[in-house]
Amino acid sequence: MSSVADFHPFAPETVECPYPFYAAMRRDAPVYQVPGMDFFIISRYEDIQRVLLDTETFSSKTGPGVRGQPPKEVMDIMAQGWLPVDTLLTNDPPSHRRYRGLVNKAFTPRRVAQLEPSIRQIAHELVDAFIHDGTVELVQQFAVPLPLTVIADALGVPRADLPTFKRWSDDAVAPLGGMISFERELECARSVVEFQHYFAAKLDERRASPQDDILTDLIHARLEGETPLSTGEMLNILLQLLVAGNETTTNLIASAMLLLLQHPQQMAAVRADPGLIPNFIEEALRLESPVQGLFRMAKVDTEIGGVRIPAGSRVVIMYASGNRDEARFADAERFDICRANAKDHLAFGAGIHYCLGAPLARLEAKIAFETLLSRLHNIRLVPEKNDFTHTPSFILRGLKALHLQFDRA
Ligand code: HEM
Repeated sequence: MSSVADFHPFAPETVECPYPFYAAMRRDAPVYQVPGMDFFIISRYEDIQRVLLDTETFSSKTGPGVRGQPPKEVMDIMAQGWLPVDTLLTNDPPSHRRYRGLVNKAFTPRRVAQLEPSIRQIAHELVDAFIHDGTVELVQQFAVPLPLTVIADALGVPRADLPTFKRWSDDAVAPLGGMISFERELECARSVVEFQHYFAAKLDERRASPQDDILTDLIHARLEGETPLSTGEMLNILLQLLVAGNETTTNLIASAMLLLLQHPQQMAAVRADPGLIPNFIEEALRLESPVQGLFRMAKVDTEIGGVRIPAGSRVVIMYASGNRDEARFADAERFDICRANAKDHLAFGAGIHYCLGAPLARLEAKIAFETLLSRLHNIRLVPEKNDFTHTPSFILRGLKALHLQFDRA
């Protein structure tokens, strides 16, 4: 087995398949300060959980990106819209509590359950569009448009604006991976400003004529003793729904399908009993976590696993590594849709920042597989068309494409 020093976290081959690197860290250096880098990577399940739950010591106010503060030119563009505020992902108590409490009033289990029929309809429409071809590129033709259309519908974006909505979503996420050019960073900031003006107008519409939807609920959300959300705060929250919700769910659907195709017996088992789909989704989240890791900042001098972490240091909590920790998951590298503790994974985080959209993501993935498996039979990989490469990112993991052939049910 390679030693941890053989890997560089940003080397293309490590980003393409980081699991041997994670295994080496868990074994040799569970709290690893990458030579020449100013952060520590936390790779064991128990240590990750400790950091997640200890918000006194570890702050989320680091910006979730690899590069930290954006350059001045980017800030100048952003000044044409509403300046960023720390609301959810990049915020700490006590202020996080106010935002999360208010957003929970809009993003309720009832609201998610209400979306079920429309998610099912969207999934069927997407399959209708390719079923006669006998072949599909699952990422672009299904896994991308499903969550995007669901959230666009939920936010009242007309179908005609979907391509623009998709661009905003991509541009909101792109800077986080830390691997884009300066020009691209400017383009992304322009998209965010466009997004803000579009939704500020929508919020004004809802104030004038309320509807039964998330935007109206955000406007009307109230918590005792707390001020309601301002327009700038709501815009920031809406942007986070795009950033956090689209690419992640896309990546889950694609990687879960590949896992099933690589394990034909388990494919047969889920087909025979669709009741296994929810646990299969948890196992896919565990093994191919769409969010591999995120940053925290130590507020005070502290120590994890015997390693001193000085105040001001950044740490990466590597959920995807914790999810393969043998100390928590027996035979952890093995894909097992019947794993009893699959749901203990950290793919949605833990503690106060636990994923707001987890119930929606789970529902979307469940409906995606119920629809795909009932309508497409004998699904197989198109020979020689798949290279199984992933979008290069230290933070997000997702297949670039997945070419499939199938028979019609
Ligand atoms: C498979 C899909 C998804 C994955 C793997 C995922 C993963 C995560 C993770 C790991 C966190 C915790 C961040 C932290 O600890 O700092 C998080 C938070 C969050 N997620 Fe998700 N997410 C997914 C889908 C969604 C969806 C569909 C939405 C909304 C539409 C969403 C909205 C959010 C928000 C707003 C937060 C911040 C919560 C807070 O800080 O209080 N996510 N997500």
